[in-house]
Amino acid sequence: MLVFFMIGSLILLLGPGLFVWGIIVMKQRDSAGRSRLPGGLLTLAGASTMVFLFWVFSEIGKMNFSKGRVLRLQGRARVARRALGDGWADDAAPEVAGLTPWQRTVLGEAWRHSAGMEHASVPAFAKLSLKLSSLGAPSELIEACHLAALDEVRHARRCFALARAYSGLPWTAGAIPELGQERPQRPEPGEGDAWSRLVRGSLLDGCLAEGMASRVAAEGAARVSDPVVRETLSVIAEDEERHAELGWDVLAFALERGGGKARRALRQALEALDAQRTPELPRIPGVDEDFLARNGVLPQAELGRLMEECIQQTRARAAAAAA
Ligand SMILES: [Fe+2]
Ligand SMILES: [Fe+2]
Repeated sequence: MLVFFMIGSLILLLGPGLFVWGIIVMKQRDSAGRSRLPGGLLTLAGASTMVFLFWVFSEIGKMNFSKGRVLRLQGRARVARRALGDGWADDAAPEVAGLTPWQRTVLGEAWRHSAGMEHASVPAFAKLSLKLSSLGAPSELIEACHLAALDEVRHARRCFALARAYSGLPWTAGAIPELGQERPQRPEPGEGDAWSRLVRGSLLDGCLAEGMASRVAAEGAARVSDPVVRETLSVIAEDEERHAELGWDVLAFALERGGGKARRALRQALEALDAQRTPELPRIPGVDEDFLARNGVLPQAELGRLMEECIQQTRARAAAAAA
């Protein structure tokens, strides 16, 4: 484990290390009256490495091959800050032998990103429970919300464990400061009443997004070679399907109790379905589509096909629910 930690740290610290080393070399050579070029090249190499890693990590941030319900705060999706430490990982141990340090860094970052999304789903379901309580929802819906939040706790723990195993770094969940700063917000014009917002959120973040997460995880499980990752994706697929069904139950509740405004909100949300973005598979040097598919990440064409299917199925079922 110590060796894994050292490899993971080395890749992250390579850029800053080269940069600082370059500055030191430049100063030493400058005071000795020699050319500063070698130090300058080291500094440039360090800066380039940092930019490259930043680019790779931001590309990986576009992947959403397994995630839970989106945590929206004041209209923006939020996740916890990056952090190192304990408290958010189970004991899962995928096979890492045969992977290069770079492949392990990329897979580690992919699972860290997924872990952050899963972790954010925990307060997302807590928020949904509060909203449902404020609208007088039946106990079954509130209970399902809390059970779903517990599912997301397990998903987050497993994803952090995989991120740690691949990267060699003890990733964990940091704070979500925006969650503590949130004030009751006046709805934007056009957002409608609480029922309308519940309809929109249920259709897009519940029925569609969690339905898509379930399909993506199931297809990923069918392709992945590692048994630990296969089991992880299979469990996530099953749980996310249940969460999507909760989204449909919440939608039915809102349509039943929300009157004409809720039905109008559903028609508007259905128009917004086509604008939902297909997850993007990053193009990262050293990891191709076959490698990612063997590790549970679907090819771009497959993601597009699944998204199209999910949108069509969601549209048909929502239209039937509104009839
Ligand atoms: Fe979920
Ligand atoms: Fe999840």
